[in-house]
Amino acid sequence: MKKYPIEQGEDPAQQKRLDFASLSNKETQVKRLEFSEEQLSFALDAARMVFWDWNLQTGKASWSSNFVHLYGLDVDSQEKSYEAFLSTVHPEDRQLIEQDAQKSLQSKRDSSVEYRIILPDGKIRWIRSQYKFFYDEQGNPVKKTGIDIDITERKLAEIKIKDGLKEKEVLLQEIHHRVKNNLQVVSSLLDLQSMHIDSPALLEVFRDFQNRVKAMAIVHQQLYESNNLSQINLAVYIRSLTENLFQVYSIVPAKVSLILDLDNVSLKIDAAISCGLIINELINNAIKHAFNESTQGVIKLSLTKDESKNITLIVGDNGIGLPENWELPNSHPLEFQLVNALVQQLEGTIEYNCYCGTKFCIRIPCD
Ligand SMILES: Nc1ncnc2c1ncn2[C@@H]1O[C@H](COP(=O)(O)OP(=O)(O)O)[C@@H](O)[C@H]1O
Ligand SMILES: [Mg+2]
Repeated sequence: MKKYPIEQGEDPAQQKRLDFASLSNKETQVKRLEFSEEQLSFALDAARMVFWDWNLQTGKASWSSNFVHLYGLDVDSQEKSYEAFLSTVHPEDRQLIEQDAQKSLQSKRDSSVEYRIILPDGKIRWIRSQYKFFYDEQGNPVKKTGIDIDITERKLAEIKIKDGLKEKEVLLQEIHHRVKNNLQVVSSLLDLQSMHIDSPALLEVFRDFQNRVKAMAIVHQQLYESNNLSQINLAVYIRSLTENLFQVYSIVPAKVSLILDLDNVSLKIDAAISCGLIINELINNAIKHAFNESTQGVIKLSLTKDESKNITLIVGDNGIGLPENWELPNSHPLEFQLVNALVQQLEGTIEYNCYCGTKFCIRIPCD
């Protein structure tokens, strides 16, 4: 293979190496040191990093030449000290640097901290500083050394994304509020319409529809008031739902009491609405059909989540029990078909028994 001679000035490193040959031992060492410093400074510049070193005993600092540019320091007048550095840091972030250093000292670990500096023209620059402490033989810290980098662009992008997300969350909450209001309008329209109805059976149908609309409206109300827009706390939802039903039927505790035993379970919105509608139907039925005049009614509702995160919902009453030949899938044209359809939608199962009143047990798999 043909070898090409290295031309003068083509490779500065090679040129320096060639220079070393003509120097004495000590001079060579000094030259080599200067050379590595030059290389380091070149590498730091290329990586847009600055290097600094703070002697904790003398309070004196030293830093790479590009430090002054990053921190907007006056090249001539500034003495190199920790105070000179700290004077550039945003007053609100100075404590943060101090706290982080204390943590690093306690844990004896390297650390990094992000803070703002104020440039002479008043502009803000974000800095990420990665640093470590050095200790003497007795374990006392003697110096702090670090490498800083300008992260303003990344920080501004982060702030923009966060602000955008917050804005979208507020918008989504607003939408839930509007959906709830619209459902309330539907409920009021049903109410208005029902004023012209004489038939008690038809009136009941209207009331059932109103309760279903209300069950859905409660979810949106809860989401509007919550910080978590993707999940609904089912226990909280069930409490409002049952409270509404007891209010609609003007039930006094002396006549029918409600016992709730609810685990802290959260569900996605769609699943929560399905569960809410199922509970609405079952409690509605218990209130309407289970008790005769003389019974001191009790409705129990329990919600549990097992280790495999499956949900079990039990709705029971101590009433008269279901009519004979009552079959779950083929029962009444709407209500139980609705319950069944909702259970299927949740890929769950439903069972019932009438040993002592009526008891429905619904199991829903959850991921
Ligand atoms: N908890 C219950 N206790 C006693 N009977 C019930 C209970 N739940 C349902 N039923 C009976 O089952 C029937 C069907 O219920 P459903 O399909 O919800 O229709 P609806 O409530 O409109 O009558 C009711 O009419 C009632 O006779
Ligand atoms: Mg019913």
